[in-house]
Amino acid sequence: MNPRIEYLQELIGQSGFDAVVLNPGASLRWLTGLDFHLMERPVVLWVSKTGKPLIILPELEQAKLAGFEAILEGSFFEDDPSTWHEVFGNALAFTNGKDLRVGVEPTGLRYLELDLMQAALPNAHFVDGSAALSSLRLLKDQDELARMKRAAEIAEEALLETLRTIQAGQTEKEIASELLVQLYRQGSDADLPFAPIVSSGPNTANPHAAPSDRAIESGDVLLFDWGARYEGYCSDITRCFFIGPVDERLQEIAKTVQRANHYAVAEVSPGMTAGQIDAIAREEIEESGFGEFFTHRTGHGLGMEAHEAPYIFAGSQLELKRGMVFTVEPGIYVPGLGGVRIEDNVVVTEDGFTSLTTLPREVKTIERYLKLMDFFRGL
Ligand code: CO
Ligand code: CO
Repeated sequence: MNPRIEYLQELIGQSGFDAVVLNPGASLRWLTGLDFHLMERPVVLWVSKTGKPLIILPELEQAKLAGFEAILEGSFFEDDPSTWHEVFGNALAFTNGKDLRVGVEPTGLRYLELDLMQAALPNAHFVDGSAALSSLRLLKDQDELARMKRAAEIAEEALLETLRTIQAGQTEKEIASELLVQLYRQGSDADLPFAPIVSSGPNTANPHAAPSDRAIESGDVLLFDWGARYEGYCSDITRCFFIGPVDERLQEIAKTVQRANHYAVAEVSPGMTAGQIDAIAREEIEESGFGEFFTHRTGHGLGMEAHEAPYIFAGSQLELKRGMVFTVEPGIYVPGLGGVRIEDNVVVTEDGFTSLTTLPREVKTIERYLKLMDFFRGL
């Protein structure tokens, strides 16, 4: 049996479930190595406390299971949806209609599959499976960390190459399109973790701005929030630049965010709670008088998904453990003026942390930033 499936089965038992069900997605891929596109046909993985997991999927996908017989049982259906209820009923008949407690991924399972399973198992209770599923991919092993390191390197290289092409008067969309090309050229998987944010000037005051047709101008902050995916694993980074001389208030904001990022990252170590890391960043920003403009949590977990556990938010009691990976991304967003966010990807180690992201965090002009990078690389 596969050790990752055995680990899930342990978590299922500990959490008081009889089974969990999963749609295709990061957890299914992590468990089995199998990847399915989720479209109009149902695909679901059923994992009981013991025994081989069962996957129910369209006949046309059957070939993908070759080589997985040792870890998975397959059950297949044809294209005609009127036959699906019967196929699900037969596939799950081994449960003998028992009163089962079945955990589902609350943000993952679709109504299509839930409906078919509820019809097949009228006595079962489908409940929030987070107790078993949210910690499944929480601790990364060496192989996963190596891929995440590479995902960060690809993203950083793509940004540097993009910065070298930026010219006065370019629009956010023009800059974003170069960044996309560079992400692929530097080796990202086709499936990027998210569409990059390139925002400028007052647009940077919106933390989730999409690239627009606005042209960059002197006095702007130019913000990049982007990431690459490498062999399934994500990076998620934010860096900001000044276009020409900028307002003193923006300079102060940038320095404050840099300090908040630095202090919070520096305290990452096993035994700290996620809430403590959030508090360090938040206090630094509050003490500088910008507290009301830091409007989001300090960070989120990173792995096969761009947002996953652990979440770094005020009051979280979750204890940091070796192998967790998350972002530290404080920001200050002043409507009408602009915003700055600095986002790094941090791994909890035996006695502290390492940062997967290495690009300088100080906000300066692109020219000075590139000069500094070229200087360091020339050493
Ligand atoms: Co980000
Ligand atoms: Co992020």
